[in-house]
Amino acid sequence: MSNTLNSLTATIEQYQKNIDQMTIQTQEDLEKFRINFLGSKGILKDLMSAIKDVPVEEKKQCGHICNEFKKFVEIYFEETKKRLNIAVISPKGHIPIDATLPVYDQNRGSHHPLSIVRRDIEHLFSKIGFIVVDGPEIEDDWHNFGSMNLPESHPARDMQDTFYLSHNPTYLLRTHTSSVQARVMESTKPPIRVICPGRVFRNETISARSHCFFHQVEGLYIDTAVSFADLKQTLYYFVTEIFQQNVQIRFRPSYFPFTEPSAEMDIQCLLCAGRGCTICKHTGWVEILGSGMVHPQVLENFKIDSNVYSGFAFGMGIERICQLKYRINDLRLYSQNDIRFLKQFTVK
Ligand code: PHE
Repeated sequence: MSNTLNSLTATIEQYQKNIDQMTIQTQEDLEKFRINFLGSKGILKDLMSAIKDVPVEEKKQCGHICNEFKKFVEIYFEETKKRLNIAVISPKGHIPIDATLPVYDQNRGSHHPLSIVRRDIEHLFSKIGFIVVDGPEIEDDWHNFGSMNLPESHPARDMQDTFYLSHNPTYLLRTHTSSVQARVMESTKPPIRVICPGRVFRNETISARSHCFFHQVEGLYIDTAVSFADLKQTLYYFVTEIFQQNVQIRFRPSYFPFTEPSAEMDIQCLLCAGRGCTICKHTGWVEILGSGMVHPQVLENFKIDSNVYSGFAFGMGIERICQLKYRINDLRLYSQNDIRFLKQFTVK
């Protein structure tokens, strides 16, 4: 064996040992390795050009050894690249794209459960002729309280802990979307058939069961000869459709300054089928909305003749419907933006 072949073999063995001991951890180190061994002025280039000095009869063997080493270096490079899961910047500075790498898991967005339920409610009422109306979140006293038969110092104002923004004139964060109904009555002549979805605010301590803001859908229907039977039938249609099953309902007499008579509507608890559980506080029934016949004074406040027209109104919390539909038991989840919570909801 010639000296050239001997020393070539020894050199390659040494390189292999060095490579075996390498612990490449970064893209920069891998790039250095590439330039050092595979680059246009790199070690493999030198080895290949050394072959020309080898005696003719050993050239073939020499070429074989060098080619084997080249394969070894290339495999080492590819495997390290995969291990680091990176794309190597090409020497010409091209954008680092390696089409062989696995794609990142795409985090596709989903709809918020409150949006899904709001949309469903809007859809159901649209089908029976209600139109969807929006209004401002910052309101004056008249639209939120005064026109709704709650004059200043009315004790029922305490039912809704209000965030006041200023006192003279009074501006506040609306406590219910009845304020939107007020704006509709102010600007539209009957017949009126609207639903008003939106965010409302009440100064309550944040806990699993109460929050300083939540979402409502309120409805208003004013026409000649609207009766309590219409109210009942409309709400019965709504609950059976939204929960997609035959739901038992009951009306309990209640009090709201803007409706007379007033009633709260309960549905039989869907989670325990009325047997009693923590959601229904072991009563078998869950309250889902307030309702009633629009108080004649409210109609008169908007110059709607209460001898000719009558109407019904109702208001519900979207969170409550969501709780029953999706078994969400903590109000805080809706606004924490926890991706583990949000990604569980998909639109049908
Ligand atoms: N505005 C009432 C509330 O926020 C709900 C309601 C609306 C009750 C219409 C009766 C009629 O609590």
